[in-house]
Amino acid sequence: MLGKRILLIIGGGIAAYKSCELIRLLRKAGASVTCVLTKRGAQFVTPMTLAALSENEVHTSLWDLKNEVEMGHIQLSRQADLVVVCPATADLMARMAAGIADDLATTLLLATDKPVLAAPAMNVRMWQHEATLRNVAQLRRDELTVLEPDEGDMACGEYGPGRLPEPDAILRAIQAHPAISGRAARRSLAGKHIIVTAGPTQEPIDPVRVLANRSSGKQGFAIAAALAQLGARVSLIAGPVNVSTPPGVDRVDVETALQMQQALGAALPADAAVLVAAVSDWRVDASSQKIKKSGGSPPALTLVENPDLLAELASSPQRPRLLIGFAAETEEVIENGRAKRARKGCDWIVANDVSGDVMGGDANSVHLISANAVESWDRLSKAEVARRLAERIAAELGEQGDGRPEN
Ligand code: CTP
Repeated sequence: MLGKRILLIIGGGIAAYKSCELIRLLRKAGASVTCVLTKRGAQFVTPMTLAALSENEVHTSLWDLKNEVEMGHIQLSRQADLVVVCPATADLMARMAAGIADDLATTLLLATDKPVLAAPAMNVRMWQHEATLRNVAQLRRDELTVLEPDEGDMACGEYGPGRLPEPDAILRAIQAHPAISGRAARRSLAGKHIIVTAGPTQEPIDPVRVLANRSSGKQGFAIAAALAQLGARVSLIAGPVNVSTPPGVDRVDVETALQMQQALGAALPADAAVLVAAVSDWRVDASSQKIKKSGGSPPALTLVENPDLLAELASSPQRPRLLIGFAAETEEVIENGRAKRARKGCDWIVANDVSGDVMGGDANSVHLISANAVESWDRLSKAEVARRLAERIAAELGEQGDGRPEN
């Protein structure tokens, strides 16, 4: 990031203190940082702290005569390579979405011709409020990058999505931004709609107990992120997981296999589907009341087979042009993967050996099995598996064309 210039706008939320760490990381990575502190931001961090960390003047007011004479706020907004808003509060994003310019920060944001990346932080209910959802969608339509907040305990005592992503994650997002990395965003999947299923399903046994599995959703979410990065419109159908939604991905949360089946049907048609979810093969003939320990023999659970979503989609009239399944295997990985591809009627199977620490871990060793080839990718990060798979999908959909005659 050597020589890159970041204009950092600090909004008024408790997470403002984390922007101090972000400045430190940016400086360490070689960037220069100029801070703009909103009036409410100054309730949480002081200009002195920011000046010391950034080794730069801190701008706080639209009406600072000395600043206006020396530089002018329009100039300030255009000198950066990237404008970063951190924390982006619900109020600040609402004003950005509406194009309001009533203080230095919002005036700069309206006057800038440089890309903007926002890292939101707010209370979970504020993040999930219709108004915020609308504003975030508007900002993304306006081509601002809005990161997904983290999920976890909040300063206000609640739990959920809305926490500021960790400073090192924000740094990575800044470094990956085309304005900083210099890599033009490749949009080889622009105009394509791709469905991804991810995570486990949970099948109720009674109102308090579930039949579940160890899938973390990490691989499916990484695939959704990689596809969105290549410009695809991604519908991500997720079982219960603790992973934040990748930027630019439409996410529907489900719990059971039957709900996943319904969400999948509603998301069609699609150009491709990647079914990564570890769908429970069975559901329980659930009790409507909590099952009690009776002191005698333990209760017997009656299992009912769930629909096979992959096989169903393969034989449906709405079958996507490219249908990809995953095969979680603990032995004879390639042979079982091949058999599964044929049995389910999909185009490719990504077979992975789940006998080690794959489930919940960050790495994966997979074999990409098609009708007449097997390609083995040795222990890679789940993000790298996702990136390679997204590239292969883009190549395949590109080669297949859109089915329309040329001219
Ligand atoms: N799958 C699905 N619906 C199911 C079960 C599995 O869509 N009810 C999909 C998974 O998303 C995955 C693929 O089928 O893409 C293979 O999943 P896996 O669990 O390996 O296969 P199973 O059919 O369950 O086979 P088995 O457990 O017997 O190995």
